[in-house]
Amino acid sequence: MNEKLLNQEDDVKKAAELVSSIGIPSQPALLLEINKKIGRPETSIGDIADLISKDVAMSAKLLKMANSSFFGLREKVDSIQRALSLVGLKNFNRIILATSLRESVGGHGSSTEKFWNHSMTVAGASAYIAKKAGFESEEQAYIAGLFHDCGVPMLMKKYPDYSQILDYALSVVNSASLSGIKKSIIGIEEERYNTHHCAVGYLITKSWHLPITISKSVWYHHFVNIDIHSDPVTRRLSAILLLADYIGGHILYLGGSDCPVETETEWAKMHKKVVTELAMNAESVKDMKDDLVEKLYI
Ligand SMILES: [Fe+2]
Ligand SMILES: [Fe+2]
Repeated sequence: MNEKLLNQEDDVKKAAELVSSIGIPSQPALLLEINKKIGRPETSIGDIADLISKDVAMSAKLLKMANSSFFGLREKVDSIQRALSLVGLKNFNRIILATSLRESVGGHGSSTEKFWNHSMTVAGASAYIAKKAGFESEEQAYIAGLFHDCGVPMLMKKYPDYSQILDYALSVVNSASLSGIKKSIIGIEEERYNTHHCAVGYLITKSWHLPITISKSVWYHHFVNIDIHSDPVTRRLSAILLLADYIGGHILYLGGSDCPVETETEWAKMHKKVVTELAMNAESVKDMKDDLVEKLYI
């Protein structure tokens, strides 16, 4: 497998046909502008507040966040700038990106809820692992986690029988699929729908103008061989995402005796390049998982 696969015209074409028949969601223009500004060092909190003020719905969301019981304020905040200082640029950006993606991609029902819980868990886990691993951008890791399976709701919307394979799509590469005993999720999706959620997700990240490192890691999030990435940043981000997705799979079945996710030892054995890239081993993967369960769920 090499990076040429990223340009596999056939895969992109098939995915593009599918999303064009459903309507490819694009990033709201204001959000795009805010993200551009946040990336510039000269940007102040006042500049972002001015942008937010232009949009009634976004302003209302920010005020709702600031006035939520989480901040425990005695008096209500009605200034956008104060609300933004209180919530923090990072939290605001994460929440608004997640809600915008959710609104754009759509969907409803318990399968959709399960999918969003998984996405939020993997986003949080990616950011946490990125911080621990000293990755250059915690935010990029968060966004990669948030978007990694965003092709799934598009397929669910188009094909009602997709919910039958949802759990398989939300789990990670397992030894049965790796050894060819069981079909991979990509193989199943291609057979049924003539495309797969990784290609659809890749196209969505492109239409949202996300950095190419994120798009590539989304495309390859079911591939254990991270050597396909010649760029070291993408390689590292992919390793972070693969580990976060594995831990997210565990969390999905937390407390259940029927957890289909493999043990840390089995996973580390199958993902040698990932654990080496992150300077980890089966034991530290387990510690990371326990940390995240505690951080995200207790
Ligand atoms: Fe996936
Ligand atoms: Fe996933």
